[in-house]
Amino acid sequence: MSGTMFVLDEVTKVYAGRPALGPLTLTVPTGRTTALIGPSGCGKSTLLRLLIGLIKPDAGTITFDGTPVTPHTNHAVRLRTGYVIQDGGLFPHMTARGNVTLMARHLGWDRARIDSRVAELTELTRFPVDGLDRYPQHLSGGQRQRVGLMRALMLNPDALLLDEPLGALDPLVRADLQTELRDIFQSLGKTVVVVTHDLGEATFFADRVVLLRDGQIVQQGRPAELWYRPVDPFVTRFVQAQRGPAIPAEV
Ligand SMILES: Nc1ncnc2c1ncn2[C@@H]1O[C@H](COP(=O)(O)OP(=O)(O)OP(=O)(O)O)[C@@H](O)[C@H]1O
Ligand SMILES: [Mg+2]
Repeated sequence: MSGTMFVLDEVTKVYAGRPALGPLTLTVPTGRTTALIGPSGCGKSTLLRLLIGLIKPDAGTITFDGTPVTPHTNHAVRLRTGYVIQDGGLFPHMTARGNVTLMARHLGWDRARIDSRVAELTELTRFPVDGLDRYPQHLSGGQRQRVGLMRALMLNPDALLLDEPLGALDPLVRADLQTELRDIFQSLGKTVVVVTHDLGEATFFADRVVLLRDGQIVQQGRPAELWYRPVDPFVTRFVQAQRGPAIPAEV
């Protein structure tokens, strides 16, 4: 598949007189994985919310699969786009199954269709079937992330937006889920935009990495380009910071 799923053209978002994002121009290719990366507060979540029409830009235009995203069209965009919210965003008063099936029930899917889709998704995400009837607070962090992912995939969307889907997980669960997510992205062939703080994770997932700072794109390209051809000292520092604290040389 080729083409462009999302286009942002000179988009600006201002909060309380301060620009949170932009002016920013970006194209998101269809059927590929794009990682958004950058320091806390640089505008990553704001960018995802703009893509799915949850917030409106103060200037500029956004298109989804050729259609401008406006208050009139954003419902259609949301039906075609799965969104995994930062920190999960599961409804605590609903079971895992209730969370996953909410939109499908709202759209009037019949029971058999819902059950068969849930069965597919539990297999795809390796979610334990006995967890489906538990509430989010009775699931592990990794299981909650899988519920968020199942919920986002329920309607078989064309695009998938994930806001730090692996934040706050222990390193082993995180490593497992990284591998599973990458396999899922590759096997489904969807357009994926994934937010992460971690350049290693971005490199692992993505065909393209977009590095933001203060609401602006500093560098975008293949992951290796950021590692080996940083465009300015900020990128160099960002890359070096990813190497982490010192590992002992020997005992
Ligand atoms: N609803 C809001 N009202 C006012 N300011 C906001 C609002 N949402 C975000 N901001 C501000 O906009 C900027 C960008 O926020 P955003 O949440 O997009 O950052 P982020 O890159 O996702 O950060 P993090 O990595 O910490 O999640 C920040 O300065 C933030 O404080
Ligand atoms: Mg964020």
